[in-house]
Parts: sequence; C-alpha cells; structure tokens
Amino acid sequence: MTRKVLLLPGDGIGPEITAQAARLLDACRKAGLDIEIEEAPVGGAAYDAHGEPLPAATLEKAKTADALLLGAVGGPKWDALEDRAKRPEQGLLGLRKHLGLFGNLRPALLYPQLAGASSLKPDLVSGLDIMIVRELTGGIYFGQPRGIEERGGERVGYNTYVYSESEIERIGRVAFEMAQKRGGKLCSVDKANVLEATMLWREVMERLAPEYPDVALSHMYVDNAAMQLVRAPKQFDVVVTGNMFGDILSDAAAMLTGSIGMLPSASLNASGRGMFEPCHGSAPDIAGKDMANPLAMMLSVAMMLRYSLDENALAERIEKAVGQVLDDGLRTADLADDSSQAVGTRAMGDAVLEA
Ligand code: NAI
Ligand code: MG
Repeated sequence: MTRKVLLLPGDGIGPEITAQAARLLDACRKAGLDIEIEEAPVGGAAYDAHGEPLPAATLEKAKTADALLLGAVGGPKWDALEDRAKRPEQGLLGLRKHLGLFGNLRPALLYPQLAGASSLKPDLVSGLDIMIVRELTGGIYFGQPRGIEERGGERVGYNTYVYSESEIERIGRVAFEMAQKRGGKLCSVDKANVLEATMLWREVMERLAPEYPDVALSHMYVDNAAMQLVRAPKQFDVVVTGNMFGDILSDAAAMLTGSIGMLPSASLNASGRGMFEPCHGSAPDIAGKDMANPLAMMLSVAMMLRYSLDENALAERIEKAVGQVLDDGLRTADLADDSSQAVGTRAMGDAVLEA
C-alpha cells in the first residue's frame, strides 16, 4: 500500500533542510519504498500566504498522512503579531493537538566523530546513546485551572500539574516497548517525594513493569536526574518522564552531544503515526545562506522510516550514511573547527545521498 508523507517546510532554514530531506525520500522511493510525497504550508509561511499558521487544508492533509516531516517554524518577522492564535508556533501546537501526538522521542546520540563538540569530557560522553521519552500533550503545560489573578491584594500566577492514569499508562507503554527494543533499561523520572501527580506516575510505572519482565525499571527524582545527566550520562538508556521535566532534561541531554544541528525527534500518536522534526528551530540568523546543517532533518527521515513506516533497514542505511560523511571529515559551519573548511547545506545533502 502506498503511504503518504507530508512535508511541512515552515520558516527560516526549514525550506532549505526540507529540500535535502525530500531528496533523501526520493532516493528511498527509487530504492523501492512505496510512498507518495505531498507538501503543505505551516507556521509563518502559512500565515503570510493564508492568514493562518495552520490552514484547514494543511490540517486535512496532515490527518490523512502516514507521517509528517516538519522543518521549523517561527522567526522575528512574526514576533510582533499580537494575536497569539496567529503566531507560527500555533501551527506546530495545533498539529500536535489535532493528531494527538503524545509520545515525544528525543534521542541524545553522540557521533564519535563529534566527541570534541560535547560540553563534557570525551570519556564521559563517548558512546552516549540515550532515548528520552517525553509525554507531550498533558502535564503542567496544559493543566486547568491556570492563570494570573488578584488574590488578597496581589497578583498570583498558577498552573496545574495533572496526569490521569490512562495518560501515564500510554506513555509508559511507549517507553517500556522502547526499552525492550534497546538496552532493556528504563528510568522513570518524577518528583514523587513532593508532587502527588508524580506519585501516581510512579505507581502506574510500577504496575506496568511486570508486563515487561525483560525491562529493568528504576526511578529517579528529577533534580537527581539533572545531576546524573551531567555527572555520568552513560548510565541512562531509556528515560521516561512528563512534559515539563522532559522538556528540560531533553534539552540538557541534547547539549551533551555538542550540536543542535544533529538531533532529530519524533512525536507519535496512539496509532503509531507521527510527526518528525529536528530539535532545533528556524535559525533565522543563517536562513537562506546555504549554511544550515541538514543532518538533524535527514536523521528525522530515518526516525520516520523506523517508527511510522516500519522500514528499519532504510533507516539504518541513512544513519550509516551520516556516520560515513562525518568519517570523511565533512562538517557544516556549526560543526567545523575552521569555518573556511565548512560545507554548505546542499553539499552536505549531496554527500549523504552519495554515501
Ligand atoms: P534555533 O534552534 O533556531 O537557533 C539557535 C542557534 O542554533 C542559532 O545560532 C542557529 O543558527 C543555530 N542552529 C539551529 N539549527 C541549526 C542547524 N540546522 N544548522 C546550523 N546551525 C543551527 O533557536 P532560536 O534561535 O531560539 O529560535 C529561532 C526561531 O525558531 C524562533 O522563532 C523560535 O520560536 C523558533 N523555534 C522553532 C522550533 C520548531 O519549529 N520546532 C523550535 C525552537 C525554536
Ligand atoms: Mg525545550
């Protein structure tokens, strides 16, 4: 059956890196992958063309696609927009919400060729390969009630940290299954000594554990997890946590790998369909200059093949090709020690395709 992939280039460097991903998908198609590729506007580009960051036509295409590949959204051009509903990031948030993308996979994988780029000493990070599974549609970012109001003569700001058992269970299962496919170790991060919502989180993880006898479940408080992540990051394999803790820990883990230009991500829903995107933003400072590193985006294609299209062999070929170009010494400006030796976005795309 022909599967549908929807490209959402977005803003800034989004279109440039999406172009490289599209070439890669084309090569996959020539190698026998049965896919149909469509494209739709999102973010600031969609606002400029259609007055909405997530036009109805884009959402319709997204709902029928088997997988979505998103570049990045946002930029200074739209920062002054008063109406929050029209801002570029609403395109991204709207897609997450409408497609129910609750399972965010954030790998922190250090390519050995780039060990020198890490913020930690090479021996602490060489071989680092962590998968953070972050719950993406619940927790304190969405909990009600929320607001800022007058109480007793001063203003009070408040948010609600809330998770239901079913929400915890479904992200728990994603994480246990991930741990089964990887090293068999799962660390659940909470603050169960203080927050009731995370006491429940811990209880549900414990309840699921016997169903996955091949996974060793452990628990860690989030403050300790932050400490351990910079002290001895290689102790982690799969980490599962809520929306806010996951937001913070996954960005910290990302920096252990050196460059934001190398990191893909996935956001999956209950049917296994998902949106795949680099972790970085639209990099307006280098947009349109053929300087962006396309590898995070190309590795997002690999994640898409693995997690939504069940094409592991193709995914591995892409990941190997990326290793190969790094072995060959190719570096975009964000990775290069000597910027005069750096290759451009398109040349890096050429090299990966060649490999
Ligand atoms: P950013 O990730 O866009 O850029 C941070 C720094 O990293 C910049 O110096 C940039 O040049 C560099 N960089 C990022 N990706 C790169 C790549 N592939 N190759 C080489 N260098 C790269 O984050 P920033 O500056 O905070 O945000 C810029 C815009 O992107 C904002 O409008 C923000 O809202 C948006 N944004 C969008 C995201 C998304 O679409 N998922 C995520 C984060 C930010
Ligand atoms: Mg973040």
